[in-house]
Amino acid sequence: MNLFLTGASGLVGSAVARAAARRGHRVTGVVGRFPGEIAGVSKTLALDLAREAAVSSAVLDAFPDAIVNCAAVSVPEKCDSDPALAQALNVALPATLARLAHHVSARLVHISSEQVFAGTKTTPYRADDPVAPINLYGRQKLDGERAVQAAAPDFAVTIRAPLLMGDSAGGQRSTHERLFADWAAGRTPRLYTDEFRQVCTAENLAEVIVELCERRDLRGVFHWAGTELLSRYEIGRRVREHFKLSERQAPLAAITRADTPEVAQKRQPCLALDISPLAGKLKTRPQSLAEQLAGMKIPPPCREWYLSNR
Ligand SMILES: NC(=O)c1ccc[n+]([C@@H]2O[C@H](COP(=O)([O-])OP(=O)(O)OC[C@H]3O[C@@H](n4cnc5c(N)ncnc54)[C@H](OP(=O)(O)O)[C@@H]3O)[C@@H](O)[C@H]2O)c1
Repeated sequence: MNLFLTGASGLVGSAVARAAARRGHRVTGVVGRFPGEIAGVSKTLALDLAREAAVSSAVLDAFPDAIVNCAAVSVPEKCDSDPALAQALNVALPATLARLAHHVSARLVHISSEQVFAGTKTTPYRADDPVAPINLYGRQKLDGERAVQAAAPDFAVTIRAPLLMGDSAGGQRSTHERLFADWAAGRTPRLYTDEFRQVCTAENLAEVIVELCERRDLRGVFHWAGTELLSRYEIGRRVREHFKLSERQAPLAAITRADTPEVAQKRQPCLALDISPLAGKLKTRPQSLAEQLAGMKIPPPCREWYLSNR
């Protein structure tokens, strides 16, 4: 199958490229500014995805069997600092890709976020539960997924993903990589004991995405995540334990939402996701945190620090 993959240099996109190539697919990978090689990508296109005409001509030229949209302004603070660029990537781009998918009869797999929910419920959110984003990123991700479903209802599937771990192309993007970056720089990460997430790896999510490219019968909005709901502090503690680092080598500061009331306004206390509708239909299995950690590498930029601390 020919895949047109946006965000090929990102945390999820680079994992999709590897997973797709392993399963025998040919990947045209779109990057923005990333300069390096990406494993699994057969043809790299450097493109500004905020330019609709450039996106259209690249997709029409590739004439793919499936489009996977992993490009985004994926950090909430970056959406706040450049809302127009974030709108172009998080809302206009998925709308354009959905129109193109419909036009060329391609499968479209679009990635959205758990942050479409307010996070005030302690039981798992179902895909059809009421949405209520509390920050600009969440509102844009919601508008993006609605645009996708409106323009390509017969071709598109949208996956709402949780907080992600895993190995990114630059080694500095995912949750465990950011913890390592702090430790290597002598900083103490401050992690909430009362913010809960159902963390998953980009690699496991990528297997789901590629399986969904192959399975055109699944349409609409679904959730994917890991099997455990854990506090951010507990996730950090388990990463430290897995890599056999001591509290002195890898310190963590436990904080609560009450310690940072202004920041907490834009963050959801608890984002539990009901993954059973999709998990019941796919071969890919959701993973516990222990299974996720077993597949994770020391981030390359921190390898020297890690080895000197062993
Ligand atoms: N990371 C998480 O914890 C998380 C959680 C839930 C949902 N998600 C969703 O999952 C999807 C993938 O996120 P991610 O974490 O993999 O994102 P990421 O690592 O931040 O990567 C973003 C990608 O978008 C590309 N991009 C951004 N602006 C571009 C532009 N103007 N032109 C071309 N490419 C551009 C980047 O390319 P360059 O780097 O080459 O410029 C990069 O490949 C997103 O939809 C995100 O909202 C992520």
